[in-house]
Amino acid sequence: MHLLRVQVPDFRGLKNIDITFEKDFVPSIFPLGSQNGGGKSTLLQLIFVLLHCSVDEKKKPFLENLLQGFKISEGEDKRVLAIIDIWDGEKIVNLNFCSEKCSPFEAMVDFDEQINSEDSLNICYYSSIQTNQNQEPNTKLQCHLTYQSKEQAKLLLHKISRKIFLAAPSTQIFLFLPPTSRKLLFSNSSNGDKNYYGILESARSQLQGLFTYDFLAVKLLIKSFKDARDRDFREAIKTGSYGNNYQTLINDLNLMLSNKRINVNEDFSGVNFKLYNNGETIELYPEDLSHGELKRLSIYIWLKSRNIEDAIVLMDEIEIAFHPDWQYQIISDLKEWGPSNQYILATHSYALCEALTPAHVKEIEPKLIKK
Ligand SMILES: Nc1ncnc2c1ncn2[C@@H]1O[C@H](COP(=O)(O)OP(=O)(O)OP(=O)(O)O)[C@@H](O)[C@H]1O
Ligand SMILES: [Mg+2]
Repeated sequence: MHLLRVQVPDFRGLKNIDITFEKDFVPSIFPLGSQNGGGKSTLLQLIFVLLHCSVDEKKKPFLENLLQGFKISEGEDKRVLAIIDIWDGEKIVNLNFCSEKCSPFEAMVDFDEQINSEDSLNICYYSSIQTNQNQEPNTKLQCHLTYQSKEQAKLLLHKISRKIFLAAPSTQIFLFLPPTSRKLLFSNSSNGDKNYYGILESARSQLQGLFTYDFLAVKLLIKSFKDARDRDFREAIKTGSYGNNYQTLINDLNLMLSNKRINVNEDFSGVNFKLYNNGETIELYPEDLSHGELKRLSIYIWLKSRNIEDAIVLMDEIEIAFHPDWQYQIISDLKEWGPSNQYILATHSYALCEALTPAHVKEIEPKLIKK
């Protein structure tokens, strides 16, 4: 799966966006730069939500949240939201997401039965009025694509939705959360799961492709060990000898931790890290690691535990907490940890960009201009 091109004429702060991500570039890692407020996070979230949420009823509310306020001008019937070209492994798929005016009545009819023309699917109904209350839907989002049958088109969108991932700091404002919950971040009230982070947590449990770089999830780390052990065992059943997935995982982690050695409890109840310091061995726990170490580990474990392969991986502000050496290093890390993926990295880091060719680096206007 490879994102080839994305065009966004006019969405929130994004104007006349047209970016190509060349399929034959090696490695398939593209930094995306702009000034603060240039629209990098908006663009990554728009791509993610369109591709991850369009065919799953449970995920559509996230799409409706993102689209709230996306109006069609007076005198117009349609407005293009985004045109996304994807290489699906066999062919180029052109997805044209477009909004159209509709009546509230139309939105009440089972949309699954509706198909307006030969080559378009109704994706969702939403309100183009920006409000904190639930407004009646007056606009529908459609996706135009060429396919042989409606079922095939849906299968294709399902396949794409399983291969798109977004990683971002949890302090990022997520435009696909309900507008009222975004406001909570700026108010003093915090009552139970009615706070922003509670709502983000619930969104994370519904959006399998979403990851926030928080603390290292020990659960995910242990899951990776168990998965590696099971893969080794399956190989033993098939071939007569155990695989080396478990050992590779240990080696990778030890390499990453340099002066520490990872150690898993025999009953998989936890992990610790042995630090060898002047002949003395100190036992450390995840909570003892540094911010940057935890972040690097958590990205590695996320890619491994979710089996992220042959996917489009969008990552926002990947460089936060990394020393410039590690900002540079993260490019070869990603190449090694998930070589079949395409990565698009929204970043402000020169060190990260220097690990690639200038042609890999994509920019959203206005470019950095000397004043
Ligand atoms: N409806 C809107 N119309 C126009 N601009 C908007 C709209 N909503 C938000 N913006 C602008 O979009 C910008 C937010 O964009 P975004 O967060 O995507 O930028 P970014 O490139 O990720 O920035 P940073 O590098 O600071 O993270 C803000 O500057 C905001 O003013
Ligand atoms: Mg941003």
